[in-house]
Amino acid sequence: MATNDIQDFFKESQQQVEKVIQEILNSTGNIAPTLNEAIHYSIFNGGKRFRPSLCYATALALNADTSKVDCVAAAIEIIHCYSLVHDDLPSMDDDSLRRGKPTCHIVYGESNAILAGDAMQAFAFQVLIELNPKITTEQKLSMIIELSKASGNEGMAAGQALDLEATNKDCDLEQLERIHRFKTGKIIQACIDLSAIALGQQNTEAHLSLQAYAQALGLAFQVKDDILDVEGNTETLGKNQGADAAMNKNTYPRLLGLENAKFMANELHEKALSAISAFGKEADTLRALSHYVIHREK
Ligand code: IPE
Ligand code: IPE
Ligand code: MG
Ligand code: MG
Ligand code: MG
Repeated sequence: MATNDIQDFFKESQQQVEKVIQEILNSTGNIAPTLNEAIHYSIFNGGKRFRPSLCYATALALNADTSKVDCVAAAIEIIHCYSLVHDDLPSMDDDSLRRGKPTCHIVYGESNAILAGDAMQAFAFQVLIELNPKITTEQKLSMIIELSKASGNEGMAAGQALDLEATNKDCDLEQLERIHRFKTGKIIQACIDLSAIALGQQNTEAHLSLQAYAQALGLAFQVKDDILDVEGNTETLGKNQGADAAMNKNTYPRLLGLENAKFMANELHEKALSAISAFGKEADTLRALSHYVIHREK
């Protein structure tokens, strides 16, 4: 897939998922207007929508219509947006810039940012249930279990706790890989797993190959995020370059050096590609997404 095509695919995925989230968000009540505003601010702020794109590309690889995974794409993006709001809090990474704008707690205060994250997490599960009524109750229950695991105490939240615990301390490569696989990898893997469930293709041979792809892709995504913190620029990134170094975070460039970190990202990309080598053209978008992950500038 050519660079232009993948850019078009991103644009379409962004529009598709934003429309879906907007519709369901508009139907919810406006009980606490400031909280509601903080939620809108944290979702509709120009995210890349990489995870929804991955859900839609998974549907294509499994020869299905992308609209069948709308609920997965939307729910996972909302969980991701919530994780960013909490990640930026003063008690966590203490960041002031996200997606090119002041972070949620800077604009709405810390308590509203905490509550916005809480509400978005709950809202994500509502979206998962209420959208795509054709998906069976059994499938929806499996999706809830998988998303709970991927975002909670066995997933992203656990990774965030390990990340914070290791901050200002030396950690080894094995620990760092574990942190990255949990804080970022689990949600990326959930894109594949929930999409496979929604499409009724859970535990098929294709799903198992896609899982191996997602494991490599998820780690590559965070290795590249670490690299961008060193050599990206604040304006393009939409977040403060050098924030990891300022916080004394453990990252791949810090542990391996910048060149070796890039080498590792490339190896993970190769690994992701080889995991889906049995697929034909239907997986070209997934291939292009993996290429994008390690070549992106933001
Ligand atoms: C940033 O994710 C946080 C990580 C898990 C590395 P993205 O790079 O996908 O950020 P947005 O959603 O485009 O803002
Ligand atoms: C965050 O990792 C992973 C999350 C679960 C949000 P980072 O702390 O490296 O993400 P950025 O760099 O702030 O986007
Ligand atoms: Mg963090
Ligand atoms: Mg951060
Ligand atoms: Mg980062």
